[in-house]
Amino acid sequence: MRVGVVGLGTMGAGIAQLCVEAGLETVGREVTDDLGERARDRISHFLTRKVEKGQIASFDLGLLTLTTDLADLSDCDVVIEAIVEELQPKRELFAELERIGRADTVLATNTSALSVTEIAAATASPARVVGMHFFNPAPLMLLVEIVRAELTSDASFDTAFRLGEALGKHPIRCHDTPGFVVNRVLIPLLNDGIRVLDEARISVEDLDAGMKHGAGWPMGPCELVDLVGIDVHVHASEALYDKLREPRMAAPPRLVAMANAGLLGRKSGRGFYTY
Ligand code: 3HC
Repeated sequence: MRVGVVGLGTMGAGIAQLCVEAGLETVGREVTDDLGERARDRISHFLTRKVEKGQIASFDLGLLTLTTDLADLSDCDVVIEAIVEELQPKRELFAELERIGRADTVLATNTSALSVTEIAAATASPARVVGMHFFNPAPLMLLVEIVRAELTSDASFDTAFRLGEALGKHPIRCHDTPGFVVNRVLIPLLNDGIRVLDEARISVEDLDAGMKHGAGWPMGPCELVDLVGIDVHVHASEALYDKLREPRMAAPPRLVAMANAGLLGRKSGRGFYTY
């Protein structure tokens, strides 16, 4: 199987890493050569660490081809999109993927809070559009949500599900409802956590310790929002709030202010914590 990955940021690079590790021919597309090279370095670093730790015997980075030209994805069996989390650029990309590619390529989006059906509607062949929602960090988190949009065919859904399994993930079957399964639960929980900081007059460290040691979370809400990216989390919250109108979905003002100030979490070096 030949897999295309469009967008090699945190999520796309993680997905491309999984494809290489699974021994699949992978074509990764970024907008500049430099961004592509950075992703390849990251992938090489993490896979080398896995070899050093004895988790895998070897890997073949030669399976990964980098390109800036979408046309190089024309012969893929599945293309996974992991670009900016905005509807219009995703719709334009899917229309373009349909124009340049084979008619039987399955087109998957890694969107976390947008509607897969609305993305699919930008194409003339929505039956082959499906959601494959990975979790951050994609190489470490076992789950992938396989999302059936209104017009997704059984064949496309099954291809995505089997690819999820081939990547070593635990796929679950979801419908195209706002936030699918995990974000429908997790986003309001994280927003509650941030609101509790002020309501309960506690420190960031104590909130995180509370949820780790009292609820068994692997990381606290503030650490997790820092990992996900404060801008990404705010965006996802706004998308869910737009659709569901539930107050808990709305991003707390404290997070919006942090995003506006460029405090984006780990990726910017500063969020609730300094990195
Ligand atoms: N590939 C391979 N290995 C990686 C990696 C990657 N991309 N990134 C990190 N690692 C490795 C590190 O190199 C490290 O190994 P090393 O130190 O020996 O080199 C190894 O992973 C373990 O790192 P940690 O010590 O940090 O691992 P932990 O045991 O603490 O677990 C964790 C880390 C899995 C992230 C765990 O803390 C966790 O499960 N946290 C919760 C994450 C979570 O909830 N994610 C979901 C976010 S929501 C989301 O994504 C939805 C979206 O739509 C917004």
